[in-house]
Amino acid sequence: MKLPMALTVTTLELPESALSLLQEVGTVEGPEGWESRLDRAEALIALLTVRVDADLLARAPKLRIVANAVVGYDNVDVAACRERGVVVTNTPDVLTDASADLALALLLATVRKLPQAERSLRAGEFHGWRFWDYLGGDVGGATLGIFGLGRIGQAVARRARPFGMRVQYHSRSRLPAQTEAELGVTWVDWDTLLTTSDILSLHAPSTPQTRHVLDESALRRMRRGSYLINTARGPLVDEAALARVLADGHLAGAGLDVYEREPAVEPALLDLQTVVLLPHIASATPRTREAMARLAARNVHAMLTGRPPLTPV
Ligand code: GLV
Repeated sequence: MKLPMALTVTTLELPESALSLLQEVGTVEGPEGWESRLDRAEALIALLTVRVDADLLARAPKLRIVANAVVGYDNVDVAACRERGVVVTNTPDVLTDASADLALALLLATVRKLPQAERSLRAGEFHGWRFWDYLGGDVGGATLGIFGLGRIGQAVARRARPFGMRVQYHSRSRLPAQTEAELGVTWVDWDTLLTTSDILSLHAPSTPQTRHVLDESALRRMRRGSYLINTARGPLVDEAALARVLADGHLAGAGLDVYEREPAVEPALLDLQTVVLLPHIASATPRTREAMARLAARNVHAMLTGRPPLTPV
């Protein structure tokens, strides 16, 4: 069924494959001036930088679907959308591998101090191979704690084991014993995760319940000399407290891809050599980004042709 008048407003530049799908069922406008087009929009393709709240919804009376072109949807007031009958979708699965690859790369870079070594070389400090120079930590034999064992957490667990890491996890819900056995992971309570992990990697969504789960007291309960990796969402960690806990050497290092108030980064972190800072790039490969955009478009396409969306939240 073709509904030529259905307008999709997009907040991102869409690849041809997504655009042509949407043009089968209507017109597409944006990203230029997308906000001024909301009053006519039946579908909105959003990003984590777009706050979809009651105020935006009030400006979009015809809206039927918000297709977030990312997997996390903490930028969307899902309850407000439900109240107005607006469907919300996200992009699970298509970014799992890229995100898990990046998490593991960041983990290795942080523990082995790769950015520090590279900065040193560029500064002309590499004077030939020296026995005791540029030492980092070991991942083989380390206990990796994973907080949040959803799709990405599981993909990280799968990647960690061949490196010789022992993997334990804490999650909102415990996985079936068979899945735990297949992944080779052990469930532990939150306190055990904090106090016995050598490396703690976060893979839980940002919700009121997970806000600052790593506050100063939790950070100080982590093992002395351990590492924190956050590729999930910034608000899980109290960033100012993290800077203090790194500065006094309680934690050996941290690798961050996400921040509490993006694009701002806690200034105290920028002064620390033991922290590796990435600009929120976990899913940033062309193939993955195209798949994310296409899945968002497929959700809109389904909705506008009277079918159930593929990946509702
Ligand atoms: C990126 O952060 C995502 O949620 O997809």
